[in-house]
Amino acid sequence: MTKLTWLSHGGWMIEKNNHRLLIDPFLTDNPTALTSADQLKDIDHILISHGHFDHVADAASIANENNATIIAIHEIAEWFANTQSVQSTVGMNIGGQLELSWVSVKMTPALHSSQLPDGSYGGEPAGFVVTIDGTRIYFACDTALFSDMKLYADNVDIAVLPIGDLFTMGIEDSITATRLIQAKKVLPAHYGTWPPIAQDANHWADRIRNETDAEPVVLAVGESIDF
Ligand code: NI
Ligand code: MN
Repeated sequence: MTKLTWLSHGGWMIEKNNHRLLIDPFLTDNPTALTSADQLKDIDHILISHGHFDHVADAASIANENNATIIAIHEIAEWFANTQSVQSTVGMNIGGQLELSWVSVKMTPALHSSQLPDGSYGGEPAGFVVTIDGTRIYFACDTALFSDMKLYADNVDIAVLPIGDLFTMGIEDSITATRLIQAKKVLPAHYGTWPPIAQDANHWADRIRNETDAEPVVLAVGESIDF
């Protein structure tokens, strides 16, 4: 059994047996988070999509506490190693795939920006397609709608799309994206954290149900789906 948990905002945890992978953990100074960074134990890997504070804030402390490996685009992996004293990092780049013992990770493009909190260059923003036992999960991460999504995430089992608008695509474009990639299940992310990205997730779910072939799955913070 594999489990996908929403940590709030763009943060996710995938668990299988004794393996745990995080994506963009953001807990400190996050008004909607229910767990603190030091409550996350036995983390093996942390994927970072881009350099913005709401995606990198807690990664170094979690990595150092758990001897976890940070996986990110080359520039961000180097930044964690050189400025945040992270012992284990793997740099990759868009279009590349990384095989880990229990999961494979492909880095996909994202249409966004990616400066690190200290002003360092963070390379290009990214998303991920994570494959576990044949189940493909597309984490679009912070991005606008773009048609090449179809090339990377066609027919995925689960798509995690931002719906908050303002900094990423909003509800309207998430519906277009869901139709474009023909995802089987779709989960909303990157909304509700602060007033500028507030959204009605039930309204979003109704629209997904009525306007696409996908099944919407709205998780509360801390809630999981099994697959
Ligand atoms: Ni961002
Ligand atoms: Mn963000």
